[in-house]
Amino acid sequence: MSPALLELARGRLADRGIDPDQALGPSDLAPEMTTAGLYVTLGSVAATEKAGQNPTHALARLALRAGLSNEVADTLFLAYNQQSAEEAGHGDKVFGNAYYAMGGIAHLPDQSVVEPPDPEALLNSDDPKENRKRLGGTAALLGGAESVALQRLLPALVTLCQSWGHPIGGDLIAQIRDVVRPEESRHVLIWRYVFHELIAPKTEKVIELYRQTTNDGRMLLAAEALDRGALDRMIGTSAPTLRQLLGKDRVGLS
Ligand SMILES: [Fe+2]
Ligand SMILES: [Fe+2]
Repeated sequence: MSPALLELARGRLADRGIDPDQALGPSDLAPEMTTAGLYVTLGSVAATEKAGQNPTHALARLALRAGLSNEVADTLFLAYNQQSAEEAGHGDKVFGNAYYAMGGIAHLPDQSVVEPPDPEALLNSDDPKENRKRLGGTAALLGGAESVALQRLLPALVTLCQSWGHPIGGDLIAQIRDVVRPEESRHVLIWRYVFHELIAPKTEKVIELYRQTTNDGRMLLAAEALDRGALDRMIGTSAPTLRQLLGKDRVGLS
């Protein structure tokens, strides 16, 4: 975290009457974190979540042009459209609001920690086979990054907010629990769905490519790679249902 950013953060927090130097202890995100560090982190989490809106909106459209069966195309269209709206909500509403409450101005795209896939590039082919390939590759990349967000980033943010003990942090903990975690779990389910419907019936080479691209996504958030056994455990033995993907069937989701 750059000293210049932290200095700026200290000023913004002090303006809101928040102690910028309160130590929040070690977390998975940094060996030591202060309120100023949490502020900077929330700005980049908000921007990174928001960056997920456009590529997932494009994926919904790509699914209709990838030569898939109607059922699979419809399922992916609905699930990715919903994900697109949810990522915008995480960025602008959940993390963006907490950032703003701490004195932040509107977060900017350049605060995103990942360069999102270009939505225009995703949609510029008319070849169904090529589109299927792009769909599988982008699903793996996003799913990899989201698996880390779910298992590591969100718990770390909750821990930091707990040590902070401020009402803004309390609100954010409730939002993460009630909104972000269930939605991110479903985004990881889309990664599983794409695997079972598009990838599993193909060759071992295609499956291996899905694993490697998933790991590329995990690496964007500096997480360790999944070996084949870990992938198999996370991916499960069957495709989730549409109701599970849309969050209409809470049973069996954890
Ligand atoms: Fe999200
Ligand atoms: Fe997500």
